[in-house]
Amino acid sequence: MESNKFYITTPIYYPSDKLHIGHAYCTVSTDMMARYKRMRGFDVMFLTGTDEHGQKIARIAEEKGVTPQEYVDKIVAGVRDLWKLLNISNDRFIRTTDEQHKKAVQKIFQKLYDKGDIYKSTYEGWYCTPCESFWTDHQLVDGKCPDCGRPVELSHEENYFFRLSKYQDRLVEYFEQNPEFCAPKSRLNEMMNNFIKPGLDDLCISRTTFDWGVKVPVDEKHVVYVWLDALSNYITAMGYGSDDESDFNKYWPADIHMVGKEIVRFHTIIWPIMLMALDLPLPKKVFGHGWLLLEGGKMSKSKGNVVDPVVLCEKYSVDAIRYFLLREVPFGSDGVFSNESLFNRINSDLANDLGNLLSRSVAMTEKYFEGKVPENREADALDNELIDLAKEVVAKYEENMENLLFPNALTEAWRLISRANKYIDETMPWALIKDEAKHARLAQVLYNLCEALRIAAVLITPAMPDTAERMFEQLGVSDANLKNWESLTWGACKEYAVKKGEALFPRIDIKAELEKLEKEAEEREAAAAKAAKAAEVEPFKDEIKFDDFMNVDLRVAKVLSCEPVPKSKKLLKMQVDLGSETRQVVSGIAQWYKPEDMIGKSVIFVANLAPAKLCGVESQGMILAADDGDDAKVLFVDGLAPGSTIR
Ligand code: ME8
Repeated sequence: MESNKFYITTPIYYPSDKLHIGHAYCTVSTDMMARYKRMRGFDVMFLTGTDEHGQKIARIAEEKGVTPQEYVDKIVAGVRDLWKLLNISNDRFIRTTDEQHKKAVQKIFQKLYDKGDIYKSTYEGWYCTPCESFWTDHQLVDGKCPDCGRPVELSHEENYFFRLSKYQDRLVEYFEQNPEFCAPKSRLNEMMNNFIKPGLDDLCISRTTFDWGVKVPVDEKHVVYVWLDALSNYITAMGYGSDDESDFNKYWPADIHMVGKEIVRFHTIIWPIMLMALDLPLPKKVFGHGWLLLEGGKMSKSKGNVVDPVVLCEKYSVDAIRYFLLREVPFGSDGVFSNESLFNRINSDLANDLGNLLSRSVAMTEKYFEGKVPENREADALDNELIDLAKEVVAKYEENMENLLFPNALTEAWRLISRANKYIDETMPWALIKDEAKHARLAQVLYNLCEALRIAAVLITPAMPDTAERMFEQLGVSDANLKNWESLTWGACKEYAVKKGEALFPRIDIKAELEKLEKEAEEREAAAAKAAKAAEVEPFKDEIKFDDFMNVDLRVAKVLSCEPVPKSKKLLKMQVDLGSETRQVVSGIAQWYKPEDMIGKSVIFVANLAPAKLCGVESQGMILAADDGDDAKVLFVDGLAPGSTIR
């Protein structure tokens, strides 16, 4: 009997305090698929997690002055919180620092070692720490990492190697026999041409230059290469290598590994070969999605151009962000994120098409029939067109979901929504109400609108579960049997009792919102620049002798009068009392102090400075102030007698 299990995974993320909208893209897409499959009656296992070992994490922890374990423990909570915020319905969350995972990785290593697929040799080559990838000379591009373009480091270590080369022919054969294994197809061609055809090199799978990882069971000076450790998560999370392998037996092989395009290589070469060597079945599909870019390149924390999904969700709602991610970019291709495209989607698809259809339909049903409309089996040509379209849309939605074409599936749902909006214009309920004889027809029209909305709500449930629920509420649909996939037949709901609620998505004034965001960004930049400047400490001057310092005659001086220096924006002229005499002093503090702020105050005064002219006005000394480049503060010593010495 064909099992109805469906096992889907995201990559496990490197823990970071700022996962960005590009990371959310992968998880939200996987979530849509998992939710869809659950609705189709599958026993879904949706796995995500964190990839916590390796040199990259070890280095960050060192920079922060904490242990790697402390660092990851602190940060993983934030990753989980983000998925919670985005309404991600994962069934399990694995951390590669989980004891059970670590033990299982050791067992995997041991098994490959015992089989003779792992051997010891010397590695000399390049390592890209951000990607945790080994590269040979000929693979580098302009001496840099071919994946991320960042500098690589020379690595020379005695290491353990995994015999990838031994499995090359079997891998190629598998690809030929399973053309569906990697999608989109172009990614597999890339793998074949760039990596497999030139000949697979054996893979270095241990490191000795740091110790943050799973210890190699046969040689504890080594830790297991982080990718071998990470890829294993897909089976260790199901209990592989533990005392209880029942979930592993139930769910493995995975139905879909959803991954970003830059890690397709690991998932279509290293991972299948690991599984072959372990005598385990291979995953059914690896899907390599594209990147979400910002104008100007890939989002990355080091470039400082990340878009924070938390901020977006707070401002524009979780479902608006989920919808944008799922709808905007053809799945598999790269796409560009911009605030403007987000706002356009919110306004046109969510506020106008969907929001208006719901609010108009519900408002008219309330107004004309106190909210209640029953099913009506008579249908004219116009009704049939709507009913047939609903049927067609459901079939096409399903077809697109099977091919992981999320935007296309949503486009189908919106085809129904647009058709229903057009149906209002065609049937003109506001005209039907005027003629008593047409009231039965009016009820039928409104029922049809509610039914189209209910079907749309079911279809958007995997993408926007909260919005679907809010639609059901306004439609008065509470029966779970009218919200599930089986209810996607026209006429499943026999009667509507609607209740108007809040607008689903408020319209955004795009021009005003963009201006507001630009202003906020400018303020943030200015604050960051100020903080950076404040952090820049002026270099200290050369050492001086004690006597040299004592030669500066510092006194308390009381300001008697103060006025601006004519034609100068910066200078104030003051008469100050030094106890035994009165002096005139000019000071460049007009930007920060008004004359009345100074009068009556006592300041620190350099009494033996040679007089100088500033803007033509003589200054017979100087008053002391502290200055951080942006702001200045005069040092006041109020309460001390004029002329007192300062040492
Ligand atoms: O690669 N657009 O982790 P990771 C779309 N730990 N997707 C993006 C993206 C963007 N701008 N930026 C990142 C790792 N991603 C490994 C995985 S799996 C056994 C180990 C995607 O945190 C990226 O493509 O660097 C990848 O699929 C996922 O986020 C995790 O990236």
